[in-house]
Parts: sequence; C-alpha cells; structure tokens
Amino acid sequence: MQIIRRLEALRAMLTEYSLAGEPVALVPTMGALHAGHMALVDAARRRAARVVVSIFVNPMQFAPGEDLARYPRREAADAQMLSDAGIDILWAPPVEEIYPAGFATSVSVAGPISSVLDGAHRPGHFDGVATVVAKLFAQVRPQVAMFGEKDFQQLAVVRRMAIDLDTGVEVVGVPTQRDDDGLALSSRNIYLDTDERARAVALPRALGEAARGIARGDDPATAIATAQAMLTRAGFAIDYVALVDADSFGDPVRGRPARLLAAARIGTTRLIDNIAVPFD
Ligand code: PAF
Repeated sequence: MQIIRRLEALRAMLTEYSLAGEPVALVPTMGALHAGHMALVDAARRRAARVVVSIFVNPMQFAPGEDLARYPRREAADAQMLSDAGIDILWAPPVEEIYPAGFATSVSVAGPISSVLDGAHRPGHFDGVATVVAKLFAQVRPQVAMFGEKDFQQLAVVRRMAIDLDTGVEVVGVPTQRDDDGLALSSRNIYLDTDERARAVALPRALGEAARGIARGDDPATAIATAQAMLTRAGFAIDYVALVDADSFGDPVRGRPARLLAAARIGTTRLIDNIAVPFD
C-alpha cells in the first residue's frame, strides 16, 4: 500500500492503473476506521482491481460548534488496518490539496434529499459532503465508490450528485455493520462512556420495533411516537425520528420502499441510524 498526500503523485499511480486497464474503486472516509469501513473496503475489493481509500476530515461538512476539532484522528492505526486489508493507495491529502487557496465552489443537491432531517438539523452539512465527494471523484476518477447505509441520507445525496454531474461513478451502498447488541458502528461511538454506550442500544431497538409495527399495519405516527418514548426513556435528546420515501426523502408512499431514520443525542454524542420499512 502506498500512502499518497499529493495530487501529482496520485495522478501518476492512477495513470498506471488506467494504462493497465485496471478499474479503481474508491472508499471515501474521514478515518478512525472500524469494521464498518472495512466492510466498504471488502465490497470495493470485490468490485475493482485497485482500491483507493481516502482519509480526509472534511472541515466543510462540520458546522460551527460541531465536533471538527475533537473528531478522532488515528492515521497510523488506520494505515495499518488498510495495509493489512491489501488496499493499493491510501489517499491522505492535506487540506490544501482539497481546498487550495481561492477555492470558491460548492456543490449543492436541491430538494428534500438534502433539506429534510439531517439537512435541516445540520445546515450546510450536505453541501460540504457533496462538494468533497465531487472533488474526490474528480481526483481519483473511480469507476465505483462505496458508502455505508448507516449514513442513508448522505448516500442519497451522493447518488444524486454523481448522476447529476455525469461523474460516471457507480455509487454503491453497503449495509450497516453493527455491534452484537445492534448499535451501528460509527467513529463517534468512541465518545460514549460506559453508561451511555449501554443506553445507546435503545436507538436500533426503537427503530426496529417501530419498523416491525409499521410493517404489521400500525399507524406510522403512533409507531414513531412509541420509538420516541423509548429513546427519551433511555436518556436520548431526539433531533428526529421520521419515515420517508427511501428514494425522494419526501412523504412515504404505500407500495414503495420506505426508510425510518433517527438522529438523537446521548450526552454530547449525536448518533444516527436507519432501517428499511416494508410499507404496503
Ligand atoms: O461518511 C463520511 O465519512 C464522510 O461524510 C465522507 C463521505 C467521507 C465525506 O467526507
């Protein structure tokens, strides 16, 4: 595995792959890697001859007051995991390789996909994500890129951007990886103390119960209220629990794929999760 920090060196390697006719898969990350990221790497390996993993803690997707400064940074440990997994390139650019002096472009996906739920609670977040992913796609020019379904709304934003900008990149969603008790793996889980970690399991449980209720024919509003009560009892402060159409993020439509998503804080840690809901 090569650790590359400069665009010129990245381009030279990518040209070699291209001349050899070797397709490239990209796994964009912000580091602090865990088994969820490694599932993306495994999926990438199955899809392309060459795998590039990027690690870049993207300042543009953090609002003032969010956890940019304390976001976990563990490049040496991450590099070891990626090298053990046999990836080809760790693309770890400094800020100026992504946002050089004078950088003035922002990619914004319009509509409910990026304006509701996390879009409403984290203004500017999805513009930051769409911009950095568009930039990474332009730098790495992959055939395929892997994103976790844990960030389900992000996945939808990136899919829309990839199509709208004719990137030619196939955006693949990889199922969420979970701890044994069901908590979705996240780099932010390390912020949880022992007590918070024990209570955090209420998040997947509440979503699971609500999804089963809706699938049985319960009124979605009642099922969501039950989930909210479970989360509140566990000590969560809720940003949202919502059922949306899985593609448009508008109101759910019977007979079409629906998704139940939640974001809630336990202590100072904001967790998100989501689950597919049969909605007939
Ligand atoms: O999901 C993440 O880790 C980030 O949002 C991403 C896609 C790497 C963009 O910075």
